[in-house]
Amino acid sequence: MGKTYNWAVLGCGHIAEKFSTDLKLLRNAKLYAAASRNLQKAQNFAAEYGFEMAYGSYEEMVADPKVDIVYVATPHSHHRNHTLLCLNNKKAVLCEKAFAMNQKEAEEMVATAKENNTFLMEAFWTMFQPSFNKAMEIIKSGELGKLKIVRSDFAFHAPFDKTKRLYNINLGGGSLLDIGIYPVFAALTSLGIPETIKTFANFSETGSEESISIIFKYKDGEMANLTSSFAAYSPVQTEYWCEKGHLTLNARWFTPTDITIWKEGGSETKIPNMLKNGWGYQFEAAHVMQCLDEGKIESEKMSWKTSLDLMKILDRVRIDAGIFFPKHDKNLFSEMK
Ligand SMILES: NC(=O)c1ccc[n+]([C@@H]2O[C@H](COP(=O)([O-])OP(=O)(O)OC[C@H]3O[C@@H](n4cnc5c(N)ncnc54)[C@H](OP(=O)(O)O)[C@@H]3O)[C@@H](O)[C@H]2O)c1
Repeated sequence: MGKTYNWAVLGCGHIAEKFSTDLKLLRNAKLYAAASRNLQKAQNFAAEYGFEMAYGSYEEMVADPKVDIVYVATPHSHHRNHTLLCLNNKKAVLCEKAFAMNQKEAEEMVATAKENNTFLMEAFWTMFQPSFNKAMEIIKSGELGKLKIVRSDFAFHAPFDKTKRLYNINLGGGSLLDIGIYPVFAALTSLGIPETIKTFANFSETGSEESISIIFKYKDGEMANLTSSFAAYSPVQTEYWCEKGHLTLNARWFTPTDITIWKEGGSETKIPNMLKNGWGYQFEAAHVMQCLDEGKIESEKMSWKTSLDLMKILDRVRIDAGIFFPKHDKNLFSEMK
């Protein structure tokens, strides 16, 4: 039996609430510290979710020697700085998606994990969902024939509000890094790195991207057709179109969900949702503790290469679509590799 780990959340926002609820499901996780830029907010959060300590600054929290693992739950624009703060204080890090604002930042984060010999993983929870893994197993088994086309979407209506994170380009606002990253992840994990990328994007009054359609083309003719948007609701499905049938990860495909498989000849089967309790964040948290039990600083399941490949593709998508973050992207073109 592994040890019990003291978890801290860095940033007491929306996702930190859901994650903390799921952390309670794990017997080897202790909800130890809540850290906010505001002490009262941290205290309220700690009281509500059962954390032992509350800190009014992120710096004070990382100075606590009892903290083992930090869940970085701030806007994407701050992932690099907050991850570096934790790693340089030898805290294992589970950092929310998008891992960083661009590939360069992601590379710095990985380099800092190596320098400090300290664990780092992107909190890409889909990678740990039983339904997503079952779908990947079926697709990769070849029972539906060769995968030729991936169609994936994630959109919801978030009315324009320039004060909100989703529309603030200095916080990485725009649908792509917030939710479009999921369809891009679906393509990366099934078809790999695309040869060609074409996009169309629509922008809001703040200059943030509101809707984006993306097409990837691969060297053997495979395609991915990906969409994200804050302008309308989508079915939130991912479909894998193969030579002998198709598989659909039903709504909301990136969370614990059910699967529909259609095979040529007309037969259809369904695999029900395998989630027993929680939102589905417990799987990534359990995996982090397993990696630490095994003395690892990198997860083989959600590897640094996967996070770097994802950021690299997102940079290429942004360059094609003209999506720039002025505070972070000074040299996006020249830094592209
Ligand atoms: N995996 C998922 O399902 C999922 C779902 C939603 C979001 N996310 C990701 O999680 C991250 C946070 O999203 P969220 O929806 O939780 O955001 P949010 O509710 O706006 O919370 C972000 C928190 O970050 C902290 N923060 C630090 N510097 C900030 C700044 N300059 N401006 C605003 N907040 C700042 C704040 O915490 P304090 O005030 O306590 O310091 C704030 O409450 C994003 O990267 C997002 O992509 C993931």
